[in-house]
Amino acid sequence: MAETNIIAVGNFTQMRRPYEPRLYQPGVDAFWQDTDFGPELHVVGRKLAEETIPRPELTRKAYPSSDDLHPSFTAPWGDDPDDRAGTPGCHDEHIALIRQWFETPAVRRMEDGFSALADRLIAAIRAKGDRNGGRFDLANDFAGPFALGCAGQLIGLELAEADWRDKINVHVSAPFSDIPRQYDIDAEIWRLFGLRAVRRGDGDGGQLIDAVIDAVRDDRLDPRFVVPIVWMVLIAAESTTSANIVSMLGLLDEHGLTDQVRANLDDDRLLTRVVEESLRMGHVFDSTPPLRAVRDMRIGDFDVPKDTIVWVWYVSANRDAPNDDRFDITRQPNHIAFSTSRDPHVCLGAHMARRMMKLALTKLLGGLPHLRRDPEGSVRQVVGLNNSYLQADFVFAPEH
Ligand code: HEM
Repeated sequence: MAETNIIAVGNFTQMRRPYEPRLYQPGVDAFWQDTDFGPELHVVGRKLAEETIPRPELTRKAYPSSDDLHPSFTAPWGDDPDDRAGTPGCHDEHIALIRQWFETPAVRRMEDGFSALADRLIAAIRAKGDRNGGRFDLANDFAGPFALGCAGQLIGLELAEADWRDKINVHVSAPFSDIPRQYDIDAEIWRLFGLRAVRRGDGDGGQLIDAVIDAVRDDRLDPRFVVPIVWMVLIAAESTTSANIVSMLGLLDEHGLTDQVRANLDDDRLLTRVVEESLRMGHVFDSTPPLRAVRDMRIGDFDVPKDTIVWVWYVSANRDAPNDDRFDITRQPNHIAFSTSRDPHVCLGAHMARRMMKLALTKLLGGLPHLRRDPEGSVRQVVGLNNSYLQADFVFAPEH
């Protein structure tokens, strides 16, 4: 057989589970994605990244109960209503509206704010640690609020509250075919959006939400897309980056590398490799949503007829070469953390996510001496659309 990155062809049970670092405890508050595609399912690996699957028609068949989907799945990256109606989708239009906030200059402008947020969170962890022997919850005391706060700064809304993260966790942990509708989220987003629109002062106008407000005002954006756009950016940013920060620290701890990295915090290339290797090995998505081949194609050794449902199983694809099961911060990893080849979809926040992960690494290791997993603590995860941490107990050596 020619070299192929195809991991399995067949049914769901042949998929390879995520790498299971000690952090990972399946079975606790966990769902696994559940579909009824059975034997028609093809699981493919990194090879797919080199193929182009044209924009899929995601129809009711792909999402069995798509009439009941939460609006976030009608968002630009998903199954938007116009697609279902058979007219061109508005992915490109929506992305064009918000793209500039994800580009390097915009991310650079936000970095001072991200850094200040990280400092505040670390100071609170240190104060807490002084009282309880250095114990803290990396997921809830740092990664979650940090990722949500950064997303809030990007969007232009004050969102740093634990209940937003609860809502996001409920959403990402539901099976694709049964994403709950959460009207309170819709109402809350409309409330924040309305407040911002009404109160916008002279100095405001430079954040993502302002572009959305202006587009609605000028009739360039159908108001039914306000919630999908805001919610999409929110879940895309929070659930992913917060979990990947926890995975990164967990993988370093498990492999005894924390002190080595701490001793080299001024080595930017090393930090980059730690981030990339964590994205490969501790990747937070199991798989893409089901895609549909819109023409006959060949992927690796397989002929894939039109209409086949194809899933990209990230966790397999990112570990499909010899030694890929080793967490190795000397490698320059090649991964598909941010894309699926679903042209033209690619993670818009990849640059921002990398900056956030690197910042988290330097602030946590620089600010919390002897940071490690708390041997007496626990880790709880939800697993669904992506893997999120409900709790991740760590400990550091407090000064007092
Ligand atoms: C470690 C963190 C992250 C990972 C692993 C990740 C991964 C992904 C993946 C796999 C996709 C789907 C691409 C496709 O459809 O082929 C995606 C899309 C997207 N992500 Fe991320 N992401 C991360 C962080 C972020 C952040 C921080 C933001 C925002 C600040 C963000 C915003 C988006 C948006 C807006 C899309 C939709 C793009 C489109 O449909 O054109 N992501 N992300």
